Amino acid sequence: MMKRTSIKAVLANQETDYTTTVKGWVRTFRNNQFIALNDGSTVKPLQIVVDLNTFPEDLLKKITPGAAIGATGKIVPSAGRGQRVELVATEVVVYGEADPSTYPLQPKRHSLEFLRSISHLRIKTNTFGCIFRLRHNLAFAIHKYFHDNGFFYMHTPIITGSDAEGAGEMFRVSTLDPKTPPCTENGEVDWSKDFFGKQTNLTVSGQLEAELGAMGLDKVYTFGPTFRAENSNTSRHLAEFWMIEPEIAFADIHDDMDLAEGLLKYVIQYVLDHNIEDLEFLQNRLIQEEKSLPQNQRSEMALIEKLEFILAEPFERITYTEAFDILRNSKPNKKKRFKFPINEWGADLQSEHERYLVEKHFKKPVIITDYPAQIKAFYMYLNEDGKTVRGMDILFPQLGEIVGGSERETRMEVLHQRMAEFGIPPEELSWYLDIRKYGSCPHAGFGLGFERLVQFITGMSNIRDVIPLPRYPGYAEF
Ligand code: 4AD
Ligand code: MG
Repeated sequence: MMKRTSIKAVLANQETDYTTTVKGWVRTFRNNQFIALNDGSTVKPLQIVVDLNTFPEDLLKKITPGAAIGATGKIVPSAGRGQRVELVATEVVVYGEADPSTYPLQPKRHSLEFLRSISHLRIKTNTFGCIFRLRHNLAFAIHKYFHDNGFFYMHTPIITGSDAEGAGEMFRVSTLDPKTPPCTENGEVDWSKDFFGKQTNLTVSGQLEAELGAMGLDKVYTFGPTFRAENSNTSRHLAEFWMIEPEIAFADIHDDMDLAEGLLKYVIQYVLDHNIEDLEFLQNRLIQEEKSLPQNQRSEMALIEKLEFILAEPFERITYTEAFDILRNSKPNKKKRFKFPINEWGADLQSEHERYLVEKHFKKPVIITDYPAQIKAFYMYLNEDGKTVRGMDILFPQLGEIVGGSERETRMEVLHQRMAEFGIPPEELSWYLDIRKYGSCPHAGFGLGFERLVQFITGMSNIRDVIPLPRYPGYAEF
């Protein structure tokens, strides 16, 4: 066969009457004559016309949904509806059959739950093709934004000896035999005999190491996998997820918020400019899906409108105390409709509260700052009031928290005191404390959950549907 062209390139080419080869997977085969072929380059299929008399019957029989084929022929204007051009095949090769009696993906609507149970095959569907093309372009846009703004991409370790969030939700990394581990005199496991000579775990965040980077390179970011052994079976949590963590030197919490808002708007604009066909497909999917819901549970805006809406205005910026007052006096709180009532200053905000602020009260993204110290991590800068810290969370519609960040504590004695409150021994983080000792300066950063971002942009209701092979409590298939 000739050198192949991608279907995306064929559809973008305004010329006709030239011969080319395409290769991909059969979506449908109508009337033993019209093949809809998809090759992953775009959601749009190319129609391949095969003449019954030109091809042997046993070859045509193998052209069923899911089969991998190649076709060579002339690109001509299409007489049929729905496509500008089509390929009239002179040669067809079947690379791999897909037995219709067992192939699970038939040309009809499958539920997302069913598709999740065949995650190894769902990437072949239109919906998941759109999601993963968008996921790629979002990752690319993130790197581009940072690169164009003078940031350096820093690779932080996956295996670490520290708990960056101090929350103890870590997966242990060990090569000791769980049946007969070496023990110390008092009968405890002797971790000094383990592979690294100490206890290690998969990282929950690259932040502490990114802080080291910012103290020499000024502006850095990480973009890597992170792992949390929290038993959260929700539509917004994964046990393995990807996080983007920039860290900037000579910067405060306001610079941090500006950076996060700028990044989010940039990447949304990027996919509006580069993935409009994928977004249109997902928008229609969502409209179809919501048809079965009562009117008041349907989205107020279509997907693309929602993305443009995020770009239109500055995000609302309020303090925790202001948010607390709004929530305490809110209708759902007074009518006891929140699962977690808001009574006492200091309580952590749940996703129902976050969504109320964003979707009902402000009707736009909200950044909350100056949280109570006791509900945030040890590394956040303690305000003069001694009660609140310079942390910031960005809340989005549908999701709640999408970004969590802060200005970092730089005063050695305060940091020591905060670590003591969290029960973190200073020896464990002596390297982290060193950067306060040598050439310290105000600095700030944040973490953006990549899957939450993809979830928002694709409109998918479950985070398990925006990563190719999800890991969550009780589940690590494929
Ligand atoms: O708020 P988190 O825990 O913040 C940190 O890890 C900081 N070290 C970030 C920093 O300042 N460099 O997590 C940051 C973001 C959350 O806002 C959320 O979007 C996402 O990571 N996230 C998760 N996404 C999917 N599944 C989970 N289990 C997640 N936990 C957090
Ligand atoms: Mg957080």
